[in-house]
Amino acid sequence: MADSSKDTGVDTRCVHGARHLFEPLTGAVSVPIYQCATFRHGGLGESTGFDYTRVINPTRLALEETVAALERGKYALAFATGMGAISAMIKLFVPAKEEAVHVIVSEDLYGGTYRLFNEYYANFGFEFSWVDTSVPEKVGAAVRSNTKALFVETPSNPMMKVTDIQKCAHLIHGHGGVLIVDNTFLTPCFQNPLDLGADFVIHSGTKYLAGHNDTLAGFIVHSNDLCEDRLRNIQKSEGATLSPFDAWLTLRGIKTLALRMEKHRTNGKLVAEALRGHPKVEKVFYTGFPDHPQYALSSAQTRGHSGLLSFYVKDKKDAERVLKNVSLVLFAESLGGVESLITYPLVQTHSAIPEAMRRASGVNDRLLRVSVGIENPQDIIADICQALG
Ligand SMILES: Cc1ncc(COP(=O)(O)O)c(C=O)c1O
Repeated sequence: MADSSKDTGVDTRCVHGARHLFEPLTGAVSVPIYQCATFRHGGLGESTGFDYTRVINPTRLALEETVAALERGKYALAFATGMGAISAMIKLFVPAKEEAVHVIVSEDLYGGTYRLFNEYYANFGFEFSWVDTSVPEKVGAAVRSNTKALFVETPSNPMMKVTDIQKCAHLIHGHGGVLIVDNTFLTPCFQNPLDLGADFVIHSGTKYLAGHNDTLAGFIVHSNDLCEDRLRNIQKSEGATLSPFDAWLTLRGIKTLALRMEKHRTNGKLVAEALRGHPKVEKVFYTGFPDHPQYALSSAQTRGHSGLLSFYVKDKKDAERVLKNVSLVLFAESLGGVESLITYPLVQTHSAIPEAMRRASGVNDRLLRVSVGIENPQDIIADICQALG
């Protein structure tokens, strides 16, 4: 099969994957959904390379190869959800007996990740430090002798702070640790953390990659041969693998990823600008504003800004009014799909984060997060403005 992964544009890789995705037997241009649990062997020691779907499945394999090619990694592993991927990632560092493992984590990140680390892995010999990773000096100060990993979301969620991936990679490698970047917000169309020195990339494929708010998926992408065996072992032992149908939906979504990201980008900018001029809006957090504190860094390490932004309304009552009155924009908890969604981080995505920590990072009862979809931008703006009253 032709290899379309080398030296092709990211938009080409979205459509054709790591290799052309047609099915060789019939020439069908869409990878079939291999909806089967097990695979027949011709005899002892004879195998097609496929044995049992928890371990390997042709549809999921085509997706994993596609996502690896997009993120310019050697390997990608597909999980049932983003949280499944993050959990497998952290298991790679499970401490040996009585020896705690320390992980530094962005303090402003998806609340589910906080819950997983703090409520579960903290009981199994892990220590976590929550740090503003957009300030490299703070990361450096948090390093301990048992620090094994630095886990960042950039831009951060929901305050849109930007972490310098190259600097952080350099810093953590200097201490013998690894850098893990959750690239859900920007996708491989706009940011390639592995090229900037990160060791592992995480995706909630539920968001922009699949892109239609109709499936859940998660990924780990990397290029480390030794870790690949261990990660595959965790994946097949725990069994949180992506089903063939969800793998197919995600593959289909990815075919239009580059196109969608362009529209999310242009729509996001227009919505951010309109909100910034609204009398009831106090502040808009959007990485595409030239006066964003890390605009220069963001421009240097990314190729675009997604459709994500957050804003403070001046009065808490206005936040409630918007959530009640939006009609085109849906009040729902997720991001990255074709539909514009508005989220109240305080009670939704970030409810697991303790109040003091939430307050310190800026998540309060006046903060709203918008995932700008691909509808007509004027319709999105008109809807949010009418909801603001
Ligand atoms: C940045 C980020 N990472 C990971 C996750 C978890 O992904 P999933 O919901 O697919 O488990 C989310 C979910 O919102 C997220 O926003």
